[in-house]
Amino acid sequence: MAAAVGRICGARLLKNTGIVGPQVCQLSTSTQGWTRNRKLLLSTLGAVGGGVGALLFALEQSVQASGNEAHPPHQPWSHDGWFKAFDHASVRRGYEVYKQVCKACHSMQYIAFRNLVNVTHTEEEAKAEAAEVMIKDGPDEEGNYFERPGKLSDYFPSPYPNENAARAANNGAYPPDLSLICSGRKGGEDYLFALLTGYMDPPAGVVLRDGQHYNPYFPGGAISMAQALYDEAAEYTDGTAPTASQLAKDVSAFLRWCSEPELDERRLMTIKALGMFSMLAAVVYYFKRHKWSTLKSRKLAYKPVSKK
Ligand code: HEC
Repeated sequence: MAAAVGRICGARLLKNTGIVGPQVCQLSTSTQGWTRNRKLLLSTLGAVGGGVGALLFALEQSVQASGNEAHPPHQPWSHDGWFKAFDHASVRRGYEVYKQVCKACHSMQYIAFRNLVNVTHTEEEAKAEAAEVMIKDGPDEEGNYFERPGKLSDYFPSPYPNENAARAANNGAYPPDLSLICSGRKGGEDYLFALLTGYMDPPAGVVLRDGQHYNPYFPGGAISMAQALYDEAAEYTDGTAPTASQLAKDVSAFLRWCSEPELDERRLMTIKALGMFSMLAAVVYYFKRHKWSTLKSRKLAYKPVSKK
């Protein structure tokens, strides 16, 4: 059937043998056939497009260069790469670090206990984690609000009732919600790791206000969060040695998972899609050759019509 369709199409293309030659010439992209105006227009468009691109690139570079913060070094994350997955043991340990250290100041309002199920914890474990916290609920039948142990469907509770309370407790600085922080900061988990392990004494000439600390990776250098991670600042249930860098690595991996909980699934889809599409591509290529074979193997002859 395909061959028949090809023949019909081919027949229509070739109907008026006398003008086949000139028509083909009109469609050609060779610059010889272009009018002067068209050449001018296209060159102007090219020059303007190139100029705008170069300007944008230069602006982006100058913005990067104007910052005075150190650039975070790249770390070899287990989930780095098209076909890589999270290290779930590390994400689980990261949850433990968040729970024991960061939770004191940072909320995580978009992550619920049910999200942990089958990622870092079993359902039973996640239920037990949820039951450890008290959640405000209500109103009950008499119109009163009450506290109850958490359930799987509850979101992580916030340490402060509102932003003002958070600022009042932290020298006026607001500890940002950590649910999406990894996607929200340039450098992602590399930045988080560098920030958490990068505290140092301020260099000469840098004056910090009360309650500020020096961290070269934080824009401006003066951060209102004190160093949170030291060796043994948290305990791991799996027996890993809780050194400061281990804690920072695990909590950064956990925060990447919080920002992109679908990452593993997406990578799995990539593998499936590549597999399927490469098979399809072979079929499509064969079919294309098949369909075009009548046209491509046809010989066209140009016969000038003699003017008499
Ligand atoms: C004692 C309270 C406190 C603890 C504990 C704490 N933080 Fe913070 N954090 C803050 C405050 C306050 C800020 C805001 C700093 C600022 O804007 O200068 C902050 C800011 C941050 C930022 C944002 C930095 C930026 O680029 O804007 C990240 C990321 C962060 N903290 C991660 C963590 C992690 C991870 C932990 C746990 C290991 C943690 N924090 C523990 C108080 C805390």
